[in-house]
Amino acid sequence: MDLQLAGKVVVITGGASGIGLAAARTFAAEGAELVIGDRDEAALTAVAAELGAAGQRVDVREYGQCAALIERAAAEHGRVDVLVNSAGVGGIPRLFAESDPADGDWDAMLDVNLRGTMHCCRAVAERMIAQRAGRIVNLASEAGKLNEKRIVVYGATKGGVIALTKGLAIELGRFGVTVNAVCPGVTRTPMTAYITDEMEREWARYYPLGRLGRPEDIAPMIAFLASAQAAWITGQAISINGGFGRS
Ligand SMILES: NC(=O)c1ccc[n+]([C@@H]2O[C@H](COP(=O)([O-])OP(=O)(O)OC[C@H]3O[C@@H](n4cnc5c(N)ncnc54)[C@H](O)[C@@H]3O)[C@@H](O)[C@H]2O)c1
Repeated sequence: MDLQLAGKVVVITGGASGIGLAAARTFAAEGAELVIGDRDEAALTAVAAELGAAGQRVDVREYGQCAALIERAAAEHGRVDVLVNSAGVGGIPRLFAESDPADGDWDAMLDVNLRGTMHCCRAVAERMIAQRAGRIVNLASEAGKLNEKRIVVYGATKGGVIALTKGLAIELGRFGVTVNAVCPGVTRTPMTAYITDEMEREWARYYPLGRLGRPEDIAPMIAFLASAQAAWITGQAISINGGFGRS
């Protein structure tokens, strides 16, 4: 199937690592024009060089930086066809009753995962409305649907991303803009580097497909949702989770 992504202008936040990086590689292989935004300047430089993409340092917690990222893509290419919001932080796994609202961990997850995604969606919204076309794909999580002990706050931010996605889909649908969320189960990336092979063997018992996720398991769905073939899919939170939870 030709996804017709060649020449499409794709902005990916968090594209220097993990799932965002796998998505960036998929879009590059499809011939898209990539603008990658990430806070990690060293990784960003390496990824941009690997993919022949534009790289811009951005902290999605700052609205002005998100707007500048979108403006750069628009200035260089004349439009923005796709926004993928993959920038995210996992926080410190611990029981909610033992977490400290004042130590910054809650703020980091809320500001990057929820507010950062809102910033980038807001920064691109008017442009996509004017274009009468666009695709937004937000990285939520299976935790945003089911949640799980020790990641309650993280899951709450991802539940917020799902609600954001559904609300935006309603507002933007009449302009031909689709907004969807992808909800991975536990996926082995730098964010989950604390997971050992031994832990994966243990946890894999809860996954009907017998293993945890890899970034390459998630990237094809991101690319598909960004494609012309996904024109009648919007407001969805699509699980990719090896069968875990089956929600
Ligand atoms: N790995 C998992 O198990 C899993 C599961 C479900 C959902 N997710 C979500 O998928 C997305 C990607 O996660 P990943 O596992 O690839 O993580 P990752 O740590 O490998 O990549 C996240 C990227 O986001 C960037 N980033 C972090 N804060 C930023 C900020 N303030 N501004 C700009 N960039 C910032 C990091 O530099 C990094 O390059 C996240 O939204 C995450 O919550 C991950």
